[in-house]
Amino acid sequence: MEYTSIKDTLAKKSGKVKIRGWCYRERGSNAVRFIVMRDSSEIIQCVFDKAKLSPELWEESQKIKMEASFEVSGELAKNEKAPTGYEVQVEELKIIGLSDTYPIAKDFSPEFLLDQRHLWLRSRKMTAMLKIRSTIFGAIDEYFKGEGFYEYHSPIFQSVQCEGGSDLFTVDYFGKKDVFLAQTWQLYAEPAIFALEKIYTIGPTFRAEKSKTSRHLTEFWMAEMEMAWCTFKDIQDYGEKLIKHIVKKVLDKHQDDLKVLKRDISKLQPILEKSFVRMTYDEALKILKEKCDFEIEWGKDLRTIEEDKLSALYDVPIICTHYPKKVKAFYMMEDKDKPEVVLGFDFIAPEGYGEIIGGSQREHDIEKIKQRLKDEGEDPAEYEFYLDTRKYGSVPHGGFGLGVERVVAWICGFDSIKDAIPFPRTMLRWKP
Ligand code: 4AD
Ligand code: MG
Repeated sequence: MEYTSIKDTLAKKSGKVKIRGWCYRERGSNAVRFIVMRDSSEIIQCVFDKAKLSPELWEESQKIKMEASFEVSGELAKNEKAPTGYEVQVEELKIIGLSDTYPIAKDFSPEFLLDQRHLWLRSRKMTAMLKIRSTIFGAIDEYFKGEGFYEYHSPIFQSVQCEGGSDLFTVDYFGKKDVFLAQTWQLYAEPAIFALEKIYTIGPTFRAEKSKTSRHLTEFWMAEMEMAWCTFKDIQDYGEKLIKHIVKKVLDKHQDDLKVLKRDISKLQPILEKSFVRMTYDEALKILKEKCDFEIEWGKDLRTIEEDKLSALYDVPIICTHYPKKVKAFYMMEDKDKPEVVLGFDFIAPEGYGEIIGGSQREHDIEKIKQRLKDEGEDPAEYEFYLDTRKYGSVPHGGFGLGVERVVAWICGFDSIKDAIPFPRTMLRWKP
């Protein structure tokens, strides 16, 4: 007889079945044992009834402890009291791998679970997250390919900074010093738009930010796009459509997983139905003052607390534009009507999940770029390859980066971004 996944087995509703997986829970008496088996698809109760089994098989069933792997065959029967509504009346059993006493039984503190991450990945919560995460990566890919973008890859070892020098991880590169792990693909992506025009990537990203918040990782995955000939509005539109596509894919495919995570999906529905809110930085300050009683001095960046206050006013992301030049990166284009602000934007997620996308129109005035690099204490000579992109047929262009784990954490409704990646890396955690 062929094995079927537990999900497919449940769909059969009756008859002989053969399944394999791991012991998720077990209880019982000296007459009957109930062992809930899990596989990657679902869980199901397996019933070992002493009266119906040979003494050897009954003896064998006693060896199954939490997380032992085994296979069974038997008769599928309806049982409303069983966790997924059906159970298997076991007739045959084969233990594949015995299990030591499983360490994750009583202590569920976040730090303990992080120490046991290699085992905690098997939990229903992590399994649901991993499935949703996989769909999100696929949805990003599908969206950009569907819009005619080429996939393109930047190096991970890089020789310049892009998002602030203090956040760089320095690598010992055969004794050379000025080698850093990628903070973004951007400076290596802009040269490629002259070949491909529309490009995207999903790549590992490293930030040595000394931030111990629920939103910061030192290693995360960023989905980035860069595009020739586009307007500032075009880039924002791509960001909005990308997020709608991601949320739609997850809602279409992962109702069960979202239920496991106890996610209130009514909070995600507006993303599909409504346009995102667009406002300038100046308008954001005004709204914060009028509706939230928060006064911010013009020129200061929006902090987490202010982003959270704003996001609480809407049920869709906010696209905040035209930030003061001095709080944004050197490559963002000056607004020609108001040179103290830049054509840059942040997408602020609903429910206090913070900035999920950052992007901009790119400055193409080479002298302005050089000046801003100098203002940041950088030597423009190191950026010669980048400045060359402005010398030979420069065109209007722009792009953005989406923090994949921020989006996973938001869609799953997690308290911490650490739950949105298999092995989180933060300032305080790099093991296991
Ligand atoms: O806003 P950021 O710094 O933008 C860039 O790096 C641009 N060069 C992207 C581009 O235009 N191609 O980062 C983009 C996004 C943020 O909006 C946030 O979602 C995420 O990356 N992000 C982080 N996610 C987790 N941990 C961190 N430490 C993050 N820093 C940024
Ligand atoms: Mg940003």
